[in-house]
Amino acid sequence: MLVLLQTDYHCVSTAAARIIAAWVRRDPALVLGLATGGTTIGMYRELSRMHREEALDFSKVVTFNLDEYIGLAPDHPHSFHSFMHQNFFSHVNIPPAQIHIPDGSIQTGYEEYCASYEAAIREAGGIDLQVLGIGRDGHIGFNEPSSSLASRTRPKTLSRSTLADNCRDFARGEEMPTAAITMGIGTILEARHIMLIASGKAKAKAVAKAIEGPITASVSASALQLHPDVTFVVDEDAARELSQCDYYRRVMEMTAKLTPKRLW
Ligand code: GLP
Repeated sequence: MLVLLQTDYHCVSTAAARIIAAWVRRDPALVLGLATGGTTIGMYRELSRMHREEALDFSKVVTFNLDEYIGLAPDHPHSFHSFMHQNFFSHVNIPPAQIHIPDGSIQTGYEEYCASYEAAIREAGGIDLQVLGIGRDGHIGFNEPSSSLASRTRPKTLSRSTLADNCRDFARGEEMPTAAITMGIGTILEARHIMLIASGKAKAKAVAKAIEGPITASVSASALQLHPDVTFVVDEDAARELSQCDYYRRVMEMTAKLTPKRLW
């Protein structure tokens, strides 16, 4: 597990974007797992800039998003489809046929639908790099506390903590979805490489539990400790509850000395 300690949100965003860009340059047909959430916006902005100004080419990249609210049509302004188009897809050159986001507007046949989402990931050759954010309750995707560490893509009821956090995206009086379709923790762990980004004090407890806590279904992100190739890109605020924070700071200093041409 690699912890890349960054000064602030801006540095988290550029470091994460540079890592993704390096993967895309190395393998133009990369299968990229994507996340939504406020934390990812700076990273998508930087990737869009790289596409515009540095000719970063996404034309062969295939993407799979983690999750989508149940009950929202793709064109709903608060759907994750809209989020992704607004913040990323409309700024880069990924052909629409290569973009996959769970469809939250289906009303029946969830089991078959979720199995077909998993099958599409497999047919694409599996996810090479999965990007994750983290919820205050330690969820990844929408795998709320008590999610099985072996779970697959499925509908999931949202926790009170997530409803409280995500209601900021919805207007007062507007009904907020209470469930979502999400990749499972088992699905996420099959990605070849995983990068989780976090910023701000509100994430500090969740980040500490994910990196240093026991592996438990109460904190979905703690399952990442089982993965052989995970990078956490976190800022000082999000890292403040880590007991090993000083160690990660020294690792960064040492890396800066040894590898001046590092990615981040
Ligand atoms: C939602 C998404 C998660 C994301 C989380 C954190 O719950 N399903 O994938 O990690 O939000 O969002 P934010 O970055 O806005 O705190």
